[in-house]
Amino acid sequence: MFTKLLYIETFGCQMNVNDSERIVSMLADLGYAPTNEAAVADMILLNTCSVRGGAEEKVYNRLANLRIYKRDGKQQIIAVGGCVAQQEGEELLRKLPYLDLVIGTHNLHLLPDMVRGAERGERRSETSFIDNDQRLDLFPSIKGESRLSRFVTVMQGCDNFCSYCIVPFVRGREISRRSADILTEVAQLAYEGVREVILLGQNVNSYGLKTVGEPTFPELIRQVAEISGIDRIRFTTSHPKDMSDELIACFGDVPKLAGQIHLPAQSGSDAVLKLMGRGYTRDSYLDKVAKLKSVRPGIVFTGDIIVGFPGETDDDFEATLSLMEEVRYIDLFSFVYSPRPGTKAAELHDDLPKKVKMARLDRLMELQRRHTRDICQPYIGSVVNVLVEGEGKLPGQISGKADIGRIVNFSGDSALIGSFVDVRITKAYPNSLLGERV
Ligand code: SAH
Ligand code: SF4
Ligand code: F3S
Repeated sequence: MFTKLLYIETFGCQMNVNDSERIVSMLADLGYAPTNEAAVADMILLNTCSVRGGAEEKVYNRLANLRIYKRDGKQQIIAVGGCVAQQEGEELLRKLPYLDLVIGTHNLHLLPDMVRGAERGERRSETSFIDNDQRLDLFPSIKGESRLSRFVTVMQGCDNFCSYCIVPFVRGREISRRSADILTEVAQLAYEGVREVILLGQNVNSYGLKTVGEPTFPELIRQVAEISGIDRIRFTTSHPKDMSDELIACFGDVPKLAGQIHLPAQSGSDAVLKLMGRGYTRDSYLDKVAKLKSVRPGIVFTGDIIVGFPGETDDDFEATLSLMEEVRYIDLFSFVYSPRPGTKAAELHDDLPKKVKMARLDRLMELQRRHTRDICQPYIGSVVNVLVEGEGKLPGQISGKADIGRIVNFSGDSALIGSFVDVRITKAYPNSLLGERV
């Protein structure tokens, strides 16, 4: 029975989106139903990201705003979870007297107990890492959500320590889930009507490499593909250095594997890649892209780029633009470098004027808009297969994702939700496609 309301705001990556789903599911057992209105909520939780400095500021500002809801007479629990919580810990409780709970990235299983305590007025922070096998049994599953596409965590944490990145510090050591648990979860989801799974982790393609007796990531994909009912498989994120020939081969002979891959390059310059500690070169990255394009014609790429890394010269930046020209991403997430405390890159001399960094970002984004347009326009007139997931943007429309990951809106009956439908594309927008049922 729901007697209370829970409001969650989620920042950052899919790990947080997935954790928020877990939190909703866990707190349902305590009588909390999700709400979209902070003002009426009995509990407010911010699931935070600290990958860039600005993201942290956003959290502090947001908390300051939300505080107005915690008025006299209203018992409201305020909680911070995710990566800023992990990084700041108790300090947050000290800084913010109205805050009740701080919950780190390895401690979600403690949340029900913490919330019960907070209901009695107890303030608590839990941020210790559990970097051992105990964690394998602490993957609370998500119940009571009926959706057609679902995340399935295959690994957590990251051991790569790219020189700019805070993630290894806030998500802890890399750990792969038992394949038996993953396969049972996917089979259960298929039984519940899920048609697409997105295998999730900071670095999925290093799955199983450090565990004896577990399959490698390409082997795992093949095992997941055997589960009937699951018709589409995606994964995110993969690190280019761990993009093996075996994994590339999956795109050739596992038809259920979607024709889209997120493969962040970060930079097109070898000098910058070396400073970033990425473990691959421009050529080896492009070589993998070329192999993927040859085993799966029509595959589309998305990626991440950091501009203005310390010491990035004009030539380095031009190399990034030329890498984009060679890959031709359908979508690209681009960020201005932001120094993070405790990372190796934070010690590098960061003397590029902000103006230069912003000008580079603008140029890069302009090029990307052109690429997105050039890649999407030719779809007009062609037929794509869409997994219909829900209502569309406009009345009478339904919507879903094409194999290449793009959202497609088209006129149709909501009875089609849950099925795969062939749709002819009639128009390409910057973020979606419009079509008609064939
Ligand atoms: N595990 C993923 C990415 C995690 S962070 C991977 O390895 O690809 C998501 C993206 O944020 C990164 O790919 C990077 O482009 C960006 N990013 C990470 N740290 C950053 C920093 N300090 N400044 C700017 N962008 C950063
Ligand atoms: Fe960060 Fe690198 Fe790990 Fe990705 S692989 S999470 S960029 S340290
Ligand atoms: Fe942000 Fe944490 Fe993800 S820092 S990008 S929410 S792992």
